[in-house]
Amino acid sequence: MPNTQPISPELTLKPHDFPGRLIIVEGIDGSGKSTQIRLLQRWLESMGYRVFFTEWNSADLVKKTTKKGKKKRSLTPTTFSILHATDFAHRLVTNILPPLKAGMVVLADRYVYTAFARDTVRGCDREWVRKVYSFAPKPDIAYYFRVPIEVAVKRLTQSRQVLKDFEAGMDLNLHHDSIESFRIFQGRILDEYDRMSAAHDFSVVDATANIADQQRIVRTVASKKLANYSRKPRIA
Ligand SMILES: Nc1ncnc2c1ncn2[C@@H]1O[C@H](COP(=O)(O)OP(=O)(O)OP(=O)(O)O)[C@@H](O)[C@H]1O
Ligand SMILES: [Mg+2]
Repeated sequence: MPNTQPISPELTLKPHDFPGRLIIVEGIDGSGKSTQIRLLQRWLESMGYRVFFTEWNSADLVKKTTKKGKKKRSLTPTTFSILHATDFAHRLVTNILPPLKAGMVVLADRYVYTAFARDTVRGCDREWVRKVYSFAPKPDIAYYFRVPIEVAVKRLTQSRQVLKDFEAGMDLNLHHDSIESFRIFQGRILDEYDRMSAAHDFSVVDATANIADQQRIVRTVASKKLANYSRKPRIA
């Protein structure tokens, strides 16, 4: 059963006052985040918005260490969490803040909520993880693509054939079969996203719907939230 206890307000992110706008996507693996944010990017660009896209792929700074740690299973959840936070801080400073300060629309494929969910499921204290990331600005829109595990499993196995050990949570020894392990691990991540949803103002999208229908909802939300954005598109 997901825990639906509210999170105290001091553990939520603070809104920013940069001239740009920050739009992020979250959801379990295979929920369709990348598909939707790429479509949103093209649509915003077609209207003349200056858009900058960034995704949570480890920077060189910590890539080697986390890779080694994953292979040898030698890192504790806390060490892992700090490494990821370092990686995120690097991404924030180099990829997110400069375009945001320059007044662009920044689209981020995964944000701190990924760490909130993953690190908690891996055994870190929920409040501690939020405090670690308290330097991150609150996004103007946080889409949460909500999908049942079975739909995600189907999409990922159809598109990639094999699930990566880490996204299946194989290092947690939940189950010897990777699909079964994925179900358990991603199920816990899903519960974490659900409990975050209200406190962090997620715009929840039913990610079982088809791609076009979801994109229509995504655009409607974006249009509303960009209504007070002072940087008008180059071509309107
Ligand atoms: N609404 C949809 N209906 C059916 N298939 C979809 C839908 N959205 C995306 N897909 C397909 O599901 C697969 C996973 O989609 P996508 O890569 O966008 O997910 P993701 O959330 O970014 O996953 P990851 O967390 O692994 O990066 C892709 O093959 C994509 O084409
Ligand atoms: Mg993706």
